Amino acid sequence: MTTAATTVVHARAPGKINVFLKVGAVMEDGYHDLATAYQAVSLFEEVRATAASDFSVEFSGSIDTSGLTTGGSNLAIKAARALARKAGYRGGVHLEIEKNVPIAGGMGGGSADAAATLLACDALWGTSAAKDELLAIAATLGADVPFSFTGGTAIGTGRGDQLSPALAKGKFQWVLALADFGMSTPGVYQELDRHRDRHAQDIFPAEHQPSVDANVLQALRAGDPHMLADVLHNDLQAPALHLAPGLGKVLQLGEQNGALAGILSGSGPTVAFLVADADSALELQVALSASRLKVVRATGPVHGARLI
Ligand code: C5P
Repeated sequence: MTTAATTVVHARAPGKINVFLKVGAVMEDGYHDLATAYQAVSLFEEVRATAASDFSVEFSGSIDTSGLTTGGSNLAIKAARALARKAGYRGGVHLEIEKNVPIAGGMGGGSADAAATLLACDALWGTSAAKDELLAIAATLGADVPFSFTGGTAIGTGRGDQLSPALAKGKFQWVLALADFGMSTPGVYQELDRHRDRHAQDIFPAEHQPSVDANVLQALRAGDPHMLADVLHNDLQAPALHLAPGLGKVLQLGEQNGALAGILSGSGPTVAFLVADADSALELQVALSASRLKVVRATGPVHGARLI
């Protein structure tokens, strides 16, 4: 017989690649106005939730999780607490998170933990929150959390959390070169601001809202990796390369070994290479691995957070 104490709810949420990311002016809340095209990719965070009297989390997975905080500042714990508060639920949860998205890699792994946790806790506690309510909580947790919740392909504006779905055809193949260090997202944004301050002509006019290039939408709709490769863009790439110049070599190596194009994922340091097909993905994986890089493959778009 299954009792409440032994019920495990399993939810899964994906990491993401920003195939286009334009950073606008700093807004009043300190965040930057963004225009981004997100693609959810097939690296999933697996969250298993069991009822408990307080809130706790433990990690396992295909990557080194030793540096992760398990305290109250952990985003999954924050997500669970936020839902409990909102729903007036008085108990807690124990979360076991199997991590497959690179940590501090610019692929939204922490955001995926939070998105899957919201879904798992909602089911475990029977709080039956509407999707819009969960999305509203997600937006309070981080700019990328709503996208991990919805998945697929979407345009993000505002902080990146105002989502509208985008049409996409087929699957794109990615080869991801993982770094053996993490990068601080605020640090990369600050480096961009410093650069814009130094070069006054680059300052983004506050009244000018960034937008996603129409060619990006067309390439996604066509499902054509060659078209998409031509229009991949990330405003955070230059400041991240300034902070971690070694990433320039990684980009070069990928493009010399069959990638259609490479792009820094989010604020990095993961470098995402778009390839034409599965054969090219395998060849590139072998070439990058031979240069002692840690490499994983992924396809996108994939679904957002769901119960398993
Ligand atoms: O929301 P999230 O926790 O992912 O954001 C991390 C940091 O990235 C923010 O504290 C902010 O410094 C920066 N950021 C920003 N503008 C955005 C998104 C993130 O400046 N639109």
